[in-house]
Order: sequence, then C-alpha cells, then structure tokens
Amino acid sequence: MTVRYRPELNAISPYQPGKPIADVQRELGLERVIKLASNENPLGFSPRVREAVLQALEQANFYPDGNATLLKEKIAEKYGVAPEMVLPTCGSDEMVDLIAKTFIEPGSQVIMAEVTFPRYQITSLMMGADLQIVPMKDLGYDLGGFKEVLTPQTRLVWLCNPNNPTGSFFTRGELLDLLESVSPETLVVYDEAYYEFATHPEYPRDSIELVQKYPNMLVLRTLSKAYGLAGLRLGFTIGHPALLGLINRIRNPFNVTSLTQAAALAALDDEEFLARTVANNNAGKEYLYGQLERLGLPYGKTEANHIMFDSRRDGQAVFQALLRRGVIIRPVGVPRYSTWLRVSIGTAEENRVFIQALEEVLAELAPLS
Ligand SMILES: Cc1ncc(COP(=O)(O)O)c(C=O)c1O
Repeated sequence: MTVRYRPELNAISPYQPGKPIADVQRELGLERVIKLASNENPLGFSPRVREAVLQALEQANFYPDGNATLLKEKIAEKYGVAPEMVLPTCGSDEMVDLIAKTFIEPGSQVIMAEVTFPRYQITSLMMGADLQIVPMKDLGYDLGGFKEVLTPQTRLVWLCNPNNPTGSFFTRGELLDLLESVSPETLVVYDEAYYEFATHPEYPRDSIELVQKYPNMLVLRTLSKAYGLAGLRLGFTIGHPALLGLINRIRNPFNVTSLTQAAALAALDDEEFLARTVANNNAGKEYLYGQLERLGLPYGKTEANHIMFDSRRDGQAVFQALLRRGVIIRPVGVPRYSTWLRVSIGTAEENRVFIQALEEVLAELAPLS
C-alpha cells in the first residue's frame, strides 16, 4: 500500500473486543453459548429503559439534543455537582479518546499501569505520547511506582479504580497521596467504570467531591456495567468546566443518541435494579472465589464485576478450549501474565457453567511446569 499514514500507528495493535456470542455460535456450530468476556451486566438492564427508548424512538427523525441538557441535569443532581461539570459521551471509550486528543502532544509524558484498560495505551500512543508503564505490584497498582516516574512536566496520568482486568483497588489515602504528588499542571484521569461494584470500606467513595478540590482531575463513569446499557453506549465525566470546555471543542456534536439519552435518564433512577445487580455480583464473587480455590488456581480479589485468575496453562489455549465448550472469557494478553485470564461474574447459572467447563479444560491441558 502506498497511501501514507501517521507513523504513530506502527506502535499500535487494534483493541480486541470480547468475542460476540453469535460469532462463536456460527463458527463452532454451538447452540448454547455464554459470554463472560466483556464485564457486561448478566441481569440485563432496568425494565424502565424499554419504555423510555420506545417513546424516544417516535422522535428518531430529529437529531438528538447535542448538549444532552436533561441528562446533564439529571447526573448533576444525582451526584451533587453543577451541570457544567458533567459531560456525557458515547461510552467512556469516547471520553478516553477525546482526552488523549485534547491533552496529549507528541512527546508528552504519560503514565499508566502495566495491566489495565488497553484503550489508555492505544489512545496515548496514537497522539505520540512518551508512555511510561508502571509494573503491577501484587496484581494491583503500584502508586509509589507512579510517583517515582512523575515529573513536573508529566502531562497525564491514567488511573483505573477498581482496575480492569485485575479487579484490584487502591485506597482513598493512596489516591489522595497521588493527587497531592502531581503537579497542578498534570491531568489525572480517574476511571471508575466499576465504581458501583466496589464494597471495600477503604475504597474512595467520594471521588466526585475530590474533583472540587483537585481541578486537574477528571472522573469517568459509565452506564455499560452496573446499569447494563453497554449496547446503548453512555459514559459521563465529571470535572472542572474549563477542562470539559476544551474537550467539548472537539466532541462530535451528536455523540449521544436520543435513544441513549432517554435510556440513561430512565436507568439512573432505578436504584432497585442497581441493588439487584450488586447483590448478584457479590454472591457470584464468593462462589467463584470458592471454586477457584477448590481448583487450586491463584486469583486476585476483586472490587469489580470480573475476576482475574491464573490457569497455570497457556491463557490462549485455555481461552480456545473454553470457547469450544461455549464459554467466552478473555485472556489477559499481557506478556508477564500469559497464563492469566479474566472472567466476568455472571448469573449463578452462568458461573456454574463456566466452572464446569473450566474444570474440563484444566483436565485436558497439562499445567505449564
Ligand atoms: C476501565 C474501563 N474504562 C472504560 C471502559 C469503556 O466503557 P464504555 O462501555 O463506557 O465505553 C471499560 C470497558 O470495558 C473499562 O473497563
């Protein structure tokens, strides 16, 4: 090919999404397939969403409200901030992309963890960042390691808490220590995609309040996980209006569809659905911990809706062998963790099916010595 393109792309591999159920059914001729690969909500979504989306559909000939005014107001009210501090996007994926485009220049120093959400790396490299990757410590973030590589010139720090895929978390004290350590000119992106699932008493529950004290911090949330709306694509960010104003300059004007705005308005009200989701997650977590222990496999304690475990076998081989049994999970895909996989916590039945398939796969594949 002779068309020229940006050289930054040479360092980038495409993001690998979880394999869709229909693909596995078609490729392997399987009828029953369960997907525990993308940290989706196994209970579906709030029943209020269907009605709201059907109503919004009647107006589908009109462009959506490009300012998402009602949604901003709803989020602002729910979280006790001014609407100017809220920016909804097409999933938090879009926000990660917009942040990189807005704040990273070629050569900007950017810091992220070794095992975390891969979009931070792709988008940073896309913008030509000088990316510093801090190794994990005991399967969690090593914020001390972040502090060692911080400089007054650091442009951006990517934090994910609870972290995907490890499920690990860092405490409020550790977060505050890092916020105090960075220069006020450094942007701290604090991604809380799994916020609603965290139950540990030391998990920082007041991140949104911290934004008032640290105007260089952006808090990212999503309705794809606990609210079950991954297919409709809604993320929102809370931050200083000046930061959001910059991002807003390059945002696609109609980035959140009218159906999604309506769905989100309905979903955010349904505390009962959220409570059921978290209860299912807590029960599934305990069950999976017990089973992984019975099978003698190391795993990381999770504050999210997924568990990372060590199969002691080649992760790709385990992934493929589970696929053949109709169970889709995900290898971690980081060289130092080539035997580790991530499984999303499903319904009680899905968790049982996964464990049964895993047990068969462990018998089929010899452990690596
Ligand atoms: C840490 C983290 N951030 C962001 C996202 C993107 O979520 P969304 O569906 O809102 O784009 C994910 C999705 O897996 C995630 O794990």
